[in-house]
Amino acid sequence: MSSTSYFCFGFSLLLLLHSAVSMDYGAALTKSLLYFEAQRSGKLPPNQRVQWRGDSALNDGRDAGVDLLGGYYDAGDDVKFGFPMAFTVTMLAWGVVEYGSQLQAKEELSNALECIKWGTDYFIKAHPEPNVFYGEVGDGDSDHSCWQRPEDMTNTRNSYRIDEQHPGADLAGETAAAFAAAAIAFNGSNPSYSSQLITHAKQLFDFAKNHPGQYQNSISVAGSFYLSSGYEDELLWAAAWLHRATQDKGYMDYIQQSVNSGGTRSMFSWDDKYVGTQVLIAKNLLKGKFVEDGKFGEYKSNAEQFICNCIQKGSSNVQRTRAGLLWWQPWNNLQYLTSSLFVTTTYADTLTATQNTLQCPGGSVTPEDLITFVRSQVDYILGSNPKGMSYMVGFGPKYPQHVHHRGASIVSIKTDSSPVTCKGGFDWFGRNEPNPNVLEGAIVGGPDQGDDYTDSRSNYQQAEAATANTAPLVGVLARLA
Ligand SMILES: *[C@@H]1O[C@H](CO)[C@@H](O)[C@H](O)[C@H]1NC(C)=O
Repeated sequence: MSSTSYFCFGFSLLLLLHSAVSMDYGAALTKSLLYFEAQRSGKLPPNQRVQWRGDSALNDGRDAGVDLLGGYYDAGDDVKFGFPMAFTVTMLAWGVVEYGSQLQAKEELSNALECIKWGTDYFIKAHPEPNVFYGEVGDGDSDHSCWQRPEDMTNTRNSYRIDEQHPGADLAGETAAAFAAAAIAFNGSNPSYSSQLITHAKQLFDFAKNHPGQYQNSISVAGSFYLSSGYEDELLWAAAWLHRATQDKGYMDYIQQSVNSGGTRSMFSWDDKYVGTQVLIAKNLLKGKFVEDGKFGEYKSNAEQFICNCIQKGSSNVQRTRAGLLWWQPWNNLQYLTSSLFVTTTYADTLTATQNTLQCPGGSVTPEDLITFVRSQVDYILGSNPKGMSYMVGFGPKYPQHVHHRGASIVSIKTDSSPVTCKGGFDWFGRNEPNPNVLEGAIVGGPDQGDDYTDSRSNYQQAEAATANTAPLVGVLARLA
């Protein structure tokens, strides 16, 4: 380590320690859940709190003769991309499964469940037959040629599906995981809904298992936006969630019999679920729910190596910015951070509950060390960084004002109901003024490797938020609050 980087590390540590007392994680938690209301598609319910949004996409599914109203727009556009939407819902549900009582203590449990249900209600509609699932409504190319509020959309809204002749085991697998995780989250408050979700989860898992293949070969319009690198990880992830939801040994056998446990991954994302599966299995081993054998031990070891690499005690550490933020890539870096922080947090709590520590190549790590690390990274996101900027929109005194987001960047339909046309909206895109609507709770792509941030709507790599960025943070914020 050079003396310069040593200095920077010391500086960042000071900065992070300084902030530790001042962050209001409870307020950030509340905002994080509001963000999902702003991303809602379909007919908004009477208890909608984000008032600048209105009903939108009320004909979705009509081309296919199915009701596909609802669900979430994934980011700054108005497309419903099923693959990242399912990951978003799985991560929200995992947050409730692990931190339900902490959410309850902050009076946010019912809001969190509503966020999950807005997704699962839509997935139920999108799954009209066991081996049919609608995985996208709208398409990125036609959507991106317009800059419109969702309430005004004039571009084509075709529905795209997978079925036996056009498989997509990654999409079906991730949605099965979302259903199974949500079934656990709803078990306490709504057992009949929970069992409905389990039925869908089982059917989609079987569909995925029996009809392998990557979904973009069936839904080609998804390929240039959310290209899946494979489906084996989603099958394992779905099996792990179904095992947890049903205790059915068959799902455990499926995992044990699979050839590939993924190795030590470099990231956990909407595309790559190996880390999630590895951590679920590792937690079960620590709790004595799984018996350690070679295969499960491999999953646990890979989960732990990933966490060691995040906390800079591994053999292949994740890169960092100068001020210490974990760094993967220039385009939407924070999505990889929030997912990593979630698994680190829940693993730390399982270590505590089972009186274990983590043995990393760089030394022994206590659960408290892990939580301290998580808190420092969350504090960076919330404003304890060289720019003094919160990368959660609407949090603290300084946050992104020009989020790359169609709805937020155009006057609310409640304020001015005259339609904004496909091309007319680009006038709003080009304005220097801050967005007229604050996209509260959204986590944007984030700073660059030099801890810098350009607050511009055209800077989609840094200034676009996505539901998959914020979802993993909900549970982490509940835990820290
Ligand atoms: C729901 O709770 C019951 C009673 O505790 C339990 O037997 C069942 O496995 C749970 N189901 C899910 C999906 O968590």
